[in-house]
Amino acid sequence: MGPRQRNSYVRLPSAVLCLTVLVTLCLGTLAEGDDVCSKNSPASCAECLRRGPQCAWCAEESYVEGSASRCDVISRLQENGCAASQIQNPASATVISQGRPLSSTGSQTGSDVTQVSPQEVRLSLRPGDSAQVQMQVRQVKDYPVDLYYLMDLSKSMDNDLQNLKTLGVNLINKMRNITSNFRVGFGSFVDKTVAPYVNLAPGKLNEPCGGCAPVFGFRNVLSLTDQAEEFSVQLGQQQVSGNLDQPEGGFDALMQTAVCNEKIGWREKATKLIVFASDAPFHSAGDGKLGGILTPNDAKCHLDSSGTYTELNNLDYPSVGQLIAVLEERNIQPIFAVTGEQIDIYRGLANMFSGAIAETLAEDSSNVVFLVEDAYKKLRSEVRMQAPNVPEGIELQFTALCLDNQVIEGAAECKNLAVGDTVAFNITVKLAECPQDGGELQFSLNPVGFGDEMKIKVTTMCSCDCSVDAVPDSDQCSAGNGTLECGVCVCNTGRYGQTCECNADSVEAVDETKCRMDNATAVCSSRGDCLCGQCTCSARQDPREKVWGKFCECDNFSCLRHDRLICGGRGTCDCGQCVCESGWTGEACECSARTDACISENGEVCNGHGTCECGKCKCEDNFAGPTCEECPTCPGKCEGNKGCVQCQAFQSGDVTDVDCLQCPFNVTMVDSVDVVVDDPETQLCRFRDDDDCLFTFSYGKGDDNSLVVNVQRTKECPPEVNILPIILGIVAGIVLIGLAILIIWRVLLYLYDRNEYQKFEREQQKTKFSSDINPLYRETTTKFLNPTYGGNK
Ligand SMILES: *[C@@H]1O[C@H](CO)[C@@H](O)[C@H](O)[C@H]1NC(C)=O
Ligand SMILES: *[C@@H]1O[C@H](CO)[C@@H](O)[C@H](O)[C@H]1NC(C)=O
Ligand SMILES: *[C@@H]1O[C@H](CO)[C@@H](O)[C@H](O)[C@H]1NC(C)=O
Ligand SMILES: *[C@@H]1O[C@H](CO)[C@@H](O)[C@H](O)[C@H]1NC(C)=O
Ligand SMILES: *[C@@H]1O[C@H](CO)[C@@H](O)[C@H](O)[C@H]1NC(C)=O
Ligand SMILES: *[C@@H]1O[C@H](CO)[C@@H](O)[C@H](O)[C@H]1NC(C)=O
Repeated sequence: MGPRQRNSYVRLPSAVLCLTVLVTLCLGTLAEGDDVCSKNSPASCAECLRRGPQCAWCAEESYVEGSASRCDVISRLQENGCAASQIQNPASATVISQGRPLSSTGSQTGSDVTQVSPQEVRLSLRPGDSAQVQMQVRQVKDYPVDLYYLMDLSKSMDNDLQNLKTLGVNLINKMRNITSNFRVGFGSFVDKTVAPYVNLAPGKLNEPCGGCAPVFGFRNVLSLTDQAEEFSVQLGQQQVSGNLDQPEGGFDALMQTAVCNEKIGWREKATKLIVFASDAPFHSAGDGKLGGILTPNDAKCHLDSSGTYTELNNLDYPSVGQLIAVLEERNIQPIFAVTGEQIDIYRGLANMFSGAIAETLAEDSSNVVFLVEDAYKKLRSEVRMQAPNVPEGIELQFTALCLDNQVIEGAAECKNLAVGDTVAFNITVKLAECPQDGGELQFSLNPVGFGDEMKIKVTTMCSCDCSVDAVPDSDQCSAGNGTLECGVCVCNTGRYGQTCECNADSVEAVDETKCRMDNATAVCSSRGDCLCGQCTCSARQDPREKVWGKFCECDNFSCLRHDRLICGGRGTCDCGQCVCESGWTGEACECSARTDACISENGEVCNGHGTCECGKCKCEDNFAGPTCEECPTCPGKCEGNKGCVQCQAFQSGDVTDVDCLQCPFNVTMVDSVDVVVDDPETQLCRFRDDDDCLFTFSYGKGDDNSLVVNVQRTKECPPEVNILPIILGIVAGIVLIGLAILIIWRVLLYLYDRNEYQKFEREQQKTKFSSDINPLYRETTTKFLNPTYGGNK
């Protein structure tokens, strides 16, 4: 629940903000619109019209200008007393001059089929104004299809040709199934018949390979026909030929097929397809040099009566650009059916054409029927608008209204369509600028691959009706010294003044009072010459600098600068004021009107803690960061500040020296932090440092809203412990305990021994031994005296 409540709480102010911005914008444009008309009083009606679609001109002669301008918004002209009949304000208009409805099915010729409605629109547009036209597009069923099969007949296509001979009938049946109005044609190509493309050795020209036909460039074998059987027959008679290098001259063939309208037999209103079947890459512009052919391709038809390309060895291959231009102009869509090794390069090629497709052809062309059908369906599944010849000054904008009421702004195509579906495009036509030579502009729009188009004729309203009634050498303009046009005098050369009353040579010509804004400023702001009370502003040395205005007081170079560029380089300088491009505001266009940089991760503007000004967040007191996401002084930031305090105050902690330099504050060491803690904004934090001592710091806001961190100089460490006595004590203890154990052991042993001895004594006293002779003892039986025995002497 928390975040939701919070959101709605914040949305309300932002909605109000939005509304305010909108209102200011609207008021802004309104005020600006008014200004645009009357600023510096345009001198003629035509100039007034160019100011914008809201500007009108009062052609009434007696209209007192005074401070008012003849060019203004209508309401103000009326206020100033201009008669309604004299107000020149031609309105833009749209007239549908041809609007036959869409057809539902095709016809044999395709000529009375309508796939696009309306067919012609006439627009009258004032400069700066735009009109919207809706164009409906439907692919009708049974729309005529012209398919020209262009086949590479080099030796490697031998097996393909054999297959195609049998598949031809299939292909035709398949296409007949799609449209009953189907025509097919056939042409073949190899390459230019000069070295190094072919072998010029004697005999090789006529039979480049065993059983091959003579070499040739391009030949139109069968012009487009509805006699489909003829296609099979002609295919049956084809023979492969041969050349030397791998790339083939298919571009020559494509170009001739596209440009030879009559010889090939293309119908004006039909879907035109060329199936380009090959298993090799292509030669293009520039490759002709190898064979000494330097003349560029002229994109013209050069087929003789037998259908052979006559300029084969005189003109270079066409360039990709030439082919794109020719195929698009004629609305022909190529289908590149090429083998697997070549598909990548042909895909790249197809991407350059609008409405082209590249598909993989099996090695023996066995899938060609499926491929053509598939490609045809793909091409038919989308409708894409193109406008090939939009004149300068016209700007187009598309909105696609596709199936299922899908509206795609800025898109000129609809996809996933089936035959019979109707889609529409809203096209906004804007006359951005008046054409140099005036008059009518004309261009057309058509869906890619369709024979139908919508013509748009734009009548530019860059001059006023009243100009037609202009009176040259009118009496009103000082007895024939000027032309009276739309209520004002256009003076002849040498004459000046509202009614051309002043002659450049006369006395009043030197009166300078009318050339000063007030008597304190210089004549014509020192930037021009005063003649007959009119300033003629002098040209500046730098041709990009312009000076204008009644007193030459305006220019387009003395506006505020940003980044050393006038108006930040994002606007024009209009009489000292920057007129910023959209998306920029500020006196020097230094502010981005975009607010996306202010939107924080949670989607709120500046996290709800600030306002978006100049594309940047201006945060409330405690907050900081690009989207006011940081609140260094908010409670709970102890942990966040700990690392920086540690590294700065005690050179300890996890923060590296490098990161330490990035810390958002510099600590101040104080004797005691406790003194400041009674300030409610200040938070006290306490942590244990690496050396086990407690350190204390406080953070809060300083005078300039910066983060102030005070760190207590002394840490609170636990009292120090002397280790030596403890060790000695332990050692002594161990020794003493050992000794004690030893003594106890000794005592126990002694007691035990004594005990045993007493027991032995007692046993001994108890025993009564009887004296007896050992029963084993025997008396000696003989006695000898040792003879050497001397006896006891
Ligand atoms: C033509 O279409 C019908 C039904 O749409 C289908 O049954 C028939 O097989 C198709 N014929 C060919 C040759 O594809
Ligand atoms: C498209 O144009 C038609 C007629 O001009 C208009 O009624 C319709 O609102 C437009 N649709 C869109 C989405 O602009
Ligand atoms: C122009 O004005 C002069 C006097 O200011 C006059 O003599 C002359 O007739 C006028 N008309 C023409 C056509 O110059
Ligand atoms: C400027 O004009 C005012 C009246 O318009 C006058 O009082 C003043 O004296 C003039 N100053 C000079 C320097 O001519
Ligand atoms: C001033 O206006 C002229 C003519 O419109 C233009 O070419 C030039 O770029 C402008 N200069 C600046 C500084 O805007
Ligand atoms: C901290 O002090 C250093 C050196 O005096 C200085 O460069 C740096 O900008 C200071 N940092 C802050 C956030 O004030």
